[in-house]
Amino acid sequence: ANAVYYGTSLADIPNIIRTPPILSDMQDIHDPDHVFLIKPFKYDPSNPDREPEPIHGMEKYMDAWDDDHVRLPCSLGNVTRDGRHIWPIIQKALAQLKQKCDEKTVTVHDIKTTIQESNGMNFEIRCLKQLINQVFSAEERAIFLYTILSKMISLALNVGTICGQPPRLLRQESNRSVTMSQRQASSLLACGFFCLFPEPHNRHSTYQSLNFTHLLKSGAPWKIEKLKCILHYFRRISEDMPKGVLTFRRFSFLKNSDPKWIESQVPLSNIHMIANATIEDQHGFLQVDFANEYIGGGVMNEGIVQEEIRFTICTEMLVSVLFCEVMLPNECIYLIGCEQFATYSGYADTFKAKATFIDKTPKDSWGRKLSQVVAMDAIYFRNPIDQYTISCMNRELFKAYASFHLPKSMNNFAFGIATGNWGCGAFNGDRHLKAIIQLMAASEARRPLIYCSFHDKHLIESFWAIYEYLQEQKATVGDLYLYLNQYSMQHAQSTLFEFIFSTPVSSLKKS
Ligand code: AR6
Repeated sequence: ANAVYYGTSLADIPNIIRTPPILSDMQDIHDPDHVFLIKPFKYDPSNPDREPEPIHGMEKYMDAWDDDHVRLPCSLGNVTRDGRHIWPIIQKALAQLKQKCDEKTVTVHDIKTTIQESNGMNFEIRCLKQLINQVFSAEERAIFLYTILSKMISLALNVGTICGQPPRLLRQESNRSVTMSQRQASSLLACGFFCLFPEPHNRHSTYQSLNFTHLLKSGAPWKIEKLKCILHYFRRISEDMPKGVLTFRRFSFLKNSDPKWIESQVPLSNIHMIANATIEDQHGFLQVDFANEYIGGGVMNEGIVQEEIRFTICTEMLVSVLFCEVMLPNECIYLIGCEQFATYSGYADTFKAKATFIDKTPKDSWGRKLSQVVAMDAIYFRNPIDQYTISCMNRELFKAYASFHLPKSMNNFAFGIATGNWGCGAFNGDRHLKAIIQLMAASEARRPLIYCSFHDKHLIESFWAIYEYLQEQKATVGDLYLYLNQYSMQHAQSTLFEFIFSTPVSSLKKS
């Protein structure tokens, strides 16, 4: 709380934990684009252990196997090349494994055999093996193999009745949402662990796979740390299944409906700038996920930067991989209510799973934690020079604006946005340029910005100086757009901040 910051105090920035949004009751939502995998549910804080029920009631499953739904392993459409149903094969293999868990004879090799039998393919799970047999203590190993694994098998075996139906796909150019319980998410994740989801037949799928194929196999050493976090999630939910609700919402902004940046008279938003804080610690604000167009990025493989770390410690976010189609430039995806289960230290190749995390975030009236994350993908600049073209700047502005734009359900409550060096790590962006772009987008959306520079003190100091300089001259979003336009022609001569300093707002207008 005593951290050094510039600008507006956090206490003066609207926050959804302090002021929870008033939501319509679930049964009053008549939106064909919003699919609920649970029956209408209202969270009662005096009865926090009441759990939402699957949409069709317990023990019922409505199958679907088409281009609009996730293809579940238990579906009748899931058949081998020669037309045999795969689910009975999976059931048999998992039941055998469960029996070995219960008899306490199970080994990592049995997990491998089970996955192979379920898939009819050869698998290699050396990363999992190393974690369980070498990194885990004898006690941790026993808990995993004899208890947690058995519960994971049950979650996977019961995916049909737990979910009630396959989740709808959040396809491109749609504004679809899926709302599910945390138990339903855990069941889908358990299927992912055992690599049960049918892989698409064409190689150029527009979705990632939730199968743990690459996570389990040998590879970079930090993958063990990722897997440790994810298995920790399974431990936590098998000890005490969380009873909350999650929503995944795709937002597709009308194409070519970019704000008229050049004409915008909107003043700059309030801003809070801080070097020594991370985005995930900014509770009650919209938190930005520095995403890949394929949500999750490298999380199911070796990737371990901002997005992958977030999905690893807030493990339920992984579920989005299953039904979110690759994002278009005018689209973003909101991850609402996901719980954090672990903490970490380090970053990228120094990433380490640290400790368990008890997420005390309060819940909204639907039973979702008051945590909102938006997946917004920057452009990957193979050649960083490309980012100074107006077309790339426009694309990034529109992406940020679409992501920051306040949805109607928030009843005009312009709560703050927590972001930072979006697009400026793996994606090679220019920190000055992206800071100005995000400031413009937040201002146009009329929302305050919290900028966490991830230990870059110098950036915070210079960004604050620029911000004060612009405010003194009453610069508008339109003025900043003029700066970008002019800078695009002379970016080689100075940094964007230097250029802004050397060019008063009044002289901009004249030129
Ligand atoms: N809080 C605040 N800032 C952070 C945090 C954090 N927790 N973690 C990192 N940063 P990067 P990108 C800062 O490279 O360039 C993934 O694979 C830090 O300064 O993750 O948009 C995605 O799936 C870091 O250098 O985002 C995409 O494929 C900077 O934010 C791709 O990376 C950028 O983080 C996106 O790359």
